[in-house]
Amino acid sequence: MQTNFGDTTPVRVRDRIRTPEGKRVYVRALFARIADRYDFITVALSYGQDRRWKERLVAYASDLGGAHALDLATGTGDLAFALAERGARVVGLDITPRMIELARAKSNGAGRRDGALAAAFPPDDTRFLVGDMCALPFVDQVFDVVTTGYGLRNVPDLALAIAEIHRVLKPGGQLLSLDFNRPANAMVRAAYLTYLTAVGAALGWLLHRDPDTYRYIPASIRQYPGAEAVVRMMRDCGFGRATYYRVLGGLMAIHHAIRT
Ligand SMILES: C[S@@+](CC[C@H](N)C(=O)[O-])C[C@H]1O[C@@H](n2cnc3c(N)ncnc32)[C@H](O)[C@@H]1O
Repeated sequence: MQTNFGDTTPVRVRDRIRTPEGKRVYVRALFARIADRYDFITVALSYGQDRRWKERLVAYASDLGGAHALDLATGTGDLAFALAERGARVVGLDITPRMIELARAKSNGAGRRDGALAAAFPPDDTRFLVGDMCALPFVDQVFDVVTTGYGLRNVPDLALAIAEIHRVLKPGGQLLSLDFNRPANAMVRAAYLTYLTAVGAALGWLLHRDPDTYRYIPASIRQYPGAEAVVRMMRDCGFGRATYYRVLGGLMAIHHAIRT
C-alpha cells in the first residue's frame, strides 16, 4: 500500500521536478543560486561528515596513480581534488558555470591544500569544464575512473547518465558514486525525509529567506529509486560488477561498479 506518511515536502517542489524537463530546469536554477554557499551548506547539512565520506569513496578506488579520472557534477571540485591528491589526472565537469568558476579558483590557488595538489593541478583552467553528465563531451572509452558526489540523484534521466558513464569508461574502468539513499523501510524513510525537510527549510530560510531551497533534497530522494535499484540499473547497463556500501547506517550509499 502506498503511504504519504511523513510526506511534508511542499507540493510545489515535487511538482516542479516531476518531469525530466521540469527537473532539469529546476536543478539548473537551484545550483546556480546556491553555488557561492555550497561548501558551507555541505558541511552544515552533513555535520562535517561529508569530507570523510568522500575520502572513503576515493579509498575504494584502485590504481589511481596516473589514472585518467572524470568527476561528474563536480561542484566546487572536492572529489576532483581528492583524486588528484592520489595521483590521478582529473577532469571535473558540472552543468553550473558558477560551480566551475569556484572549482577553477580553488585549483588556481585559493583553497589549495598542499604541494601534491598543486603539482596535480598546475595553474590553468582546462581541467574543469561546464557540461551535462547526460550528454558527455568525450569520445568512448577514455577514462579509467568516473566519480560523482551527489550527482546521480540530480539528473533528469538516471538511466541515460549511467549509460553515458559506461560509454566513456574503458573496459575494466571504475564508477564510484556517493549519494543519499532512499531507505526501503517506510517508517525510516518517513522519519528521514521529515527530518531533512525540517532542517532544509530552516537552512533555506536562514540563508536565502526561502524555505523551499533545500526541500529539494527530500523531494529528490523521494523520486530516487534507492541504492539497490541503482545497482540493478548499473548491471543492466553493462557494469559486470556493481555493489554499494552503506554509509550512515544506510541513509547514504557509496556505489562501486566495474565496467566490463
Ligand atoms: C549537490 S552538488 C554536488 C557537488 C559535488 N560533487 C560535491 O560532492 O560536493 C550537485 C551538483 O550537480 C550539478 N549538476 C546537476 N545536474 C547536472 C548535470 N545534468 N550534469 C552535470 N552536473 C549537474 C550541479 O550543478 C551541482 O554542482
